[in-house]
Amino acid sequence: MSRAAVLCGLGGALPERIVSNEELAAQLDTSDRWIRTRTGIGQRHVVAPGQSTSDLAVAAGAQALASARGTAGQPDDGVDLVVLATSTPDRPCPATAPDVAHRLGLGGVASFDVSAVCTGFVYALATAASMITAGVAGRALVIGADTFSTILDPADRTTRAIFGDGAGAVVLRAGEAGEPGALLGFDLGSDGSGTDLITVRAGGSRQRSVPGPAAAGEEFFTMDGRPVFTRAVLDMSRSSQNLLERVGWSTAEVDKVVAHQANIRILNAVGEQLGLEEKQIVANLDRVGNTVAASIPLALRDAVAGGELQPGHRVLLTGFGGGLTWGSAALVWPELETGRPHR
Ligand code: ACO
Repeated sequence: MSRAAVLCGLGGALPERIVSNEELAAQLDTSDRWIRTRTGIGQRHVVAPGQSTSDLAVAAGAQALASARGTAGQPDDGVDLVVLATSTPDRPCPATAPDVAHRLGLGGVASFDVSAVCTGFVYALATAASMITAGVAGRALVIGADTFSTILDPADRTTRAIFGDGAGAVVLRAGEAGEPGALLGFDLGSDGSGTDLITVRAGGSRQRSVPGPAAAGEEFFTMDGRPVFTRAVLDMSRSSQNLLERVGWSTAEVDKVVAHQANIRILNAVGEQLGLEEKQIVANLDRVGNTVAASIPLALRDAVAGGELQPGHRVLLTGFGGGLTWGSAALVWPELETGRPHR
């Protein structure tokens, strides 16, 4: 049996404050009805002033480490690698992962950030899993965390309706390819011709190499919704199909598809493209919105807590995001001790 990375812990964290559609409608020209029918989102969680991505990442990471400790046959809870997927780091420099590792009491381990926007978690998972199978790391904490509320234009009704803050995390350990929880394969891709479709224009070297302040509004996140919608459906469907072929599963054999929670209409369109039934598609975006890199692990956590995702299920993860980037992963869901969900 060949060496593989095996998922053995799961956690998540959401900020306390909930912003309902009604609250948004009181501030902006929108309505609960528009947001629900066009996106499927009912509410989102938003950080308090002073709270940052690392705070959520530490909470989710601690929960995933506790889950790994509690999982049967996993006495050793030490990790030697922390990979944090985020596109809202605490600071532009340095990476946020070393601070997260330090605050989790994991000082000294290898740690770095991965930036692939909403595909970040799948990219981080592939990176950590590859380091484990290559023997560079033995156990890894992989976190997806974002606080998009900190980069949204307060006057933009579209992005404010969609995005929420949160963090999700998993622990990977070295194991064997045939075990439940073993990551069976990945499909990753990007298309930089779509850089402008999902972007924050200011704050990077291109803007800062020019003297003077950024143009008004360029510090905010912008998204060209319609082409992004089309590409999200196309790229997640194609990536899923590529990976299923490689893994040797038919779509009917997949028990749960945990896709990036961008928009319920995107999830349904991907389901249609792949020929999935509704019961195969996991959705929690009504409660949390689009939490960017946290989206897939938070959906996993909620599906486990709700009993929808069971040990032995064949699971397909698929994401799409800024870059443009996309990626998919497959595994058979393992028996996990997850404790009570943290909100
Ligand atoms: N309330 C009311 N009306 C709104 C709102 C709102 N919150 N937002 C937009 N509208 C209006 C628009 O202004 C437009 O009005 P107009 O026709 O007068 O111009 C109308 O609704 C329709 O706008 P569309 O953009 O065509 O609306 P659509 O149905 O496409 O929904 C949305 C917009 C939700 C953004 C959708 O396009 C979408 O989900 N896109 C994909 C998002 C995604 O997948 N992101 C993943 C990656 S994100 C990342 O990586 C960070």
